[in-house]
Amino acid sequence: MAKTELKSSKRMIVYTMSYIKRFKTKNYASVRREAQFLNIAASHGLAPEVYDTDYKTYIEMEDLEDMNIGDLYANEIENIPPNIIAGMYSIVWFLYYVCDIEYLDLWPRNFVERGNRVFILDFGDAKNKQKRCDKYLAKILKSGTITHWNPEFL
Ligand SMILES: Nc1ncnc2c1ncn2[C@@H]1O[C@H](COP(=O)(O)OP(=O)(O)OP(=O)(O)O)[C@@H](O)[C@H]1O
Ligand SMILES: [Mg+2]
Repeated sequence: MAKTELKSSKRMIVYTMSYIKRFKTKNYASVRREAQFLNIAASHGLAPEVYDTDYKTYIEMEDLEDMNIGDLYANEIENIPPNIIAGMYSIVWFLYYVCDIEYLDLWPRNFVERGNRVFILDFGDAKNKQKRCDKYLAKILKSGTITHWNPEFL
């Protein structure tokens, strides 16, 4: 649970549920990168907010509380509503063209629908924009929709 103290004349403490992702890897640089990417995406309202991290073993973030798209609908693209696919596509588009992030682990379990919005999770395999865009991502961006999941991560 994350505690936020608001500065005001009347002191108020707001408790927000948090989700803690834990890591066993010794590759601390990858945990740091994941937290940094999450922060960037969250600053645009695309991902859960990061509350706390030691950049090594855990990232504590906003709990989106809803099921991931894979559990909610299906893992097969054709069984996922078109507006959800469009939401996923626009997040990946925005991350690439506006945030300079190549999001590669594109599959439904890394997305959550909350209210009428789609959020992205799991930047464990995301990269800074490379000189030459990843082939799979380039194909998806060019096609204007998500035609298939990244086979490298299935
Ligand atoms: N902030 C969050 N709020 C709610 N649920 C979350 C949150 N982060 C992760 N989850 C849930 O945990 C699942 C796994 O999270 P994530 O993809 O970040 O970890 P992972 O290590 O890649 O696990 P997996 O191998 O299952 O993909 C997500 O599919 C989602 O259901
Ligand atoms: Mg994942």
